[in-house]
Amino acid sequence: MSLKEQIDLSRLPKHIAVIMDGNGRWAKQRGKNRIFGHTNGVKAVRETTESCAELGVKFLTLYAFSTENWGRPRAEVSALMELLVRTLRKETKQLNENNIRLNAIGNINTLPKRCHQELLDAIEMTTNNTRMTLTLALSYSARWEMTKAIQRIAQAAAAGQLDPSQVNDQVISSYLETADMPDPELLIRTSGEHRISNFLLWQIAYTELYFTQNFWPDFNEEELYKAIIDFQSRDRRFGKLSPT
Ligand code: IPE
Ligand code: IPE
Ligand code: MG
Repeated sequence: MSLKEQIDLSRLPKHIAVIMDGNGRWAKQRGKNRIFGHTNGVKAVRETTESCAELGVKFLTLYAFSTENWGRPRAEVSALMELLVRTLRKETKQLNENNIRLNAIGNINTLPKRCHQELLDAIEMTTNNTRMTLTLALSYSARWEMTKAIQRIAQAAAAGQLDPSQVNDQVISSYLETADMPDPELLIRTSGEHRISNFLLWQIAYTELYFTQNFWPDFNEEELYKAIIDFQSRDRRFGKLSPT
């Protein structure tokens, strides 16, 4: 049986999140610079996006650039921004053909102007697509997101629009960047690192974590299937007991 056939389509995760890591080390192994790794990561993005949509996953969220990544050398940051512009330009048509809606979370106002504009244009051009939502986390970090949410909740309370005693899980979720998405059921991180690096901290409270040694540019359809098959073997108890 092929990997794909082993997937139970009736129990697919609705939302998969991915920490795309290891581009730099992938390039280094080949004696190339880090940018070469990022450039080669794009095809893994394309393949993962298309495979998820084809299977019937409704939300795919990719960690593309963290708040902390601004601290990398200027040349790497600009190369990443340039790559984003080029990729958006090149891939938007394909997203439309595949009926995939583009979305972004993060402090996207801080992206270079051209990048920001390109992103808004691509989001606008794909806004009516319904098969899957592809969300790019750009200039994103969970603590930034939560800080902003807490500020807005506090402002609403101070203005008398929100009773502090009414603040609960749902209210908090509704103030996050991911307000219109379900929490991810599966989080994949490539490159062998076992950490979250400030991604979706609130949303992954009960997410299943999957780590693979593969560097991001080597991630592909088959690797995605493996992650989903592994996910489907998990006993998700949510703090309760599994039915006997
Ligand atoms: C992930 O690859 C891409 C981004 C964080 C933008 P890295 O650039 O972190 O690659 P490694 O982890 O240094 O190998
Ligand atoms: C996490 O990768 C951020 C993205 C994949 C965009 P990093 O490479 O920045 O994370 P650390 O530094 O290994 O924690
Ligand atoms: Mg890394």
